[in-house]
Amino acid sequence: SKKPVRVAVTGAAGQIGYALLFRIASGEMLGKDQPVILQLLEIPDEKAQKALKGVMMELEDCAFPLLAGMEAHGSPETGFKDTDYALLVGARPRGPGMERADLLAANAQIFTAQGKALDKAASRDVKVLVVGNPANTNAYIAMKSAPSLKRENFTAMLRLDHNRALSQIAAKTGKPVASIKSLCVWGNHSPTMYADYRFATIDGKSVKDMINDQVWNKDVFLPTVGKRGAAIIEARGLSSAASAANAAIDHMRDWALGTKGEWVTMGVPSNGEYGIPKDVMFGFPVTTEGGQYKIVEGLPIDAFSQECINKTLAELQGEQDGVKHLL
Ligand code: NAI
Repeated sequence: SKKPVRVAVTGAAGQIGYALLFRIASGEMLGKDQPVILQLLEIPDEKAQKALKGVMMELEDCAFPLLAGMEAHGSPETGFKDTDYALLVGARPRGPGMERADLLAANAQIFTAQGKALDKAASRDVKVLVVGNPANTNAYIAMKSAPSLKRENFTAMLRLDHNRALSQIAAKTGKPVASIKSLCVWGNHSPTMYADYRFATIDGKSVKDMINDQVWNKDVFLPTVGKRGAAIIEARGLSSAASAANAAIDHMRDWALGTKGEWVTMGVPSNGEYGIPKDVMFGFPVTTEGGQYKIVEGLPIDAFSQECINKTLAELQGEQDGVKHLL
């Protein structure tokens, strides 16, 4: 049988953690033949560590055959030791009266420290997924704080936006979600993201032609996907957790195990593709194989798409500028 791999999860006692850990331990992320050791990280606070112990008791009580070990940590230096996969879920939420700049600064501090700890302690091939918001900028900060690791191994989660877009298109066309190919989401994980179905197909037919309604695209589809997080908070009184955990599983599984030519969306550092400046952590269509992703290149960008891409890029660059002095 395979040698266990080490999976670190931060914010492990939070809502997303609770929807995520059991699925990782059951083999849904890395395969039903891959044993895992969970390295669970929470803030050192007594209450958080106690809650984490409770989650670990439940993990034990599942008797998962693939769970080869489990550790609780209060610091990233120990939590990230030799880790092969790191899911950075914990982040500082926006408190009452907190300005955007304060939020960026608080998270810059967390992700600088975590990037440095990964740089020092993690496996040299560690694959990092940042879920905690602002996810793209937090991933950018962690990448910049880990100069000895491969920059392309730092990624941000756009997969929830991608999956939300898939479901909206399935509902609009009346076709099963699994039949939709070649959808992508460009840019920032925020309401400015640009979900793009111009290249999407269902049974070989163009989704754009099937829908044939640019007003729906602009006035219904994009706002629905973009504001879905807020709609869930409004309905549930809590932010998306199970769907976010599911997207994290999808992102890591596809990165590790391959997409067989299918497109998925990942937030990854640009190498200059589509005029996005180098290192901007941007949602792109990618395919993956052998543990590596490749940005899908050469897609035509029309005027409307360019406008959308420019808007989400400008927002991301604004966030980056806001943390520049902290790096
Ligand atoms: P939560 O508040 O339930 O849990 C977060 C946990 O992280 C808490 O237990 C907290 O103690 C812990 N934490 C905070 N700072 C930490 C640090 N420095 N090290 C280790 N642990 C730390 O929040 P929830 O609902 O689990 O969401 C987590 C994050 O994911 C939030 O930032 C949220 O905005 C984000 N999110 C991102 C999505 C995406 O699509 N990228 C979708 C949904 C949520």
